[in-house]
Amino acid sequence: MTETLGPGDEELVRVATLARQRAYAPYSKYKVGAAIRSKRNKVHTGVNVENASYGLTICAERAAVFAAVGSGDNQLDAIAIVVDGDKLANPCGACRQVLAEFAPDMRVILANTSGGRKATTLSALLPEPFRPESLPS
Ligand code: THU
Repeated sequence: MTETLGPGDEELVRVATLARQRAYAPYSKYKVGAAIRSKRNKVHTGVNVENASYGLTICAERAAVFAAVGSGDNQLDAIAIVVDGDKLANPCGACRQVLAEFAPDMRVILANTSGGRKATTLSALLPEPFRPESLPS
């Protein structure tokens, strides 16, 4: 489902765009910035951080989740994900699952540096996540 963007979404995109400049992507040259707004209205950023041992790379979205949770703020409301160029990029499957741990219905704003925008929800991108409740009690 695609939704209309509001002013709060644009502000989150602005912060993610600034964060994106700090991405460490010397191998793919594909810099990604993410900004998460929590229900307490705090914003946490993340960037992709690559490694010479390629498989150790972490995506921007997960870096942002870990920054939020590490600062004690794990009630997440929305995430903006910014990439370069004229395409939009959906979060990868691993990041969707990590986001769903904290906010299965969170708002997801996809953006690029050419002004492209799309708003959706995590439940649209990952309708049936593995949930904490799935574990045996
Ligand atoms: N990447 C992200 O940061 N987020 C995604 O959802 C997909 C991919 C990064 C990982 C790697 O540094 C680069 O983009 C190319 O895959």
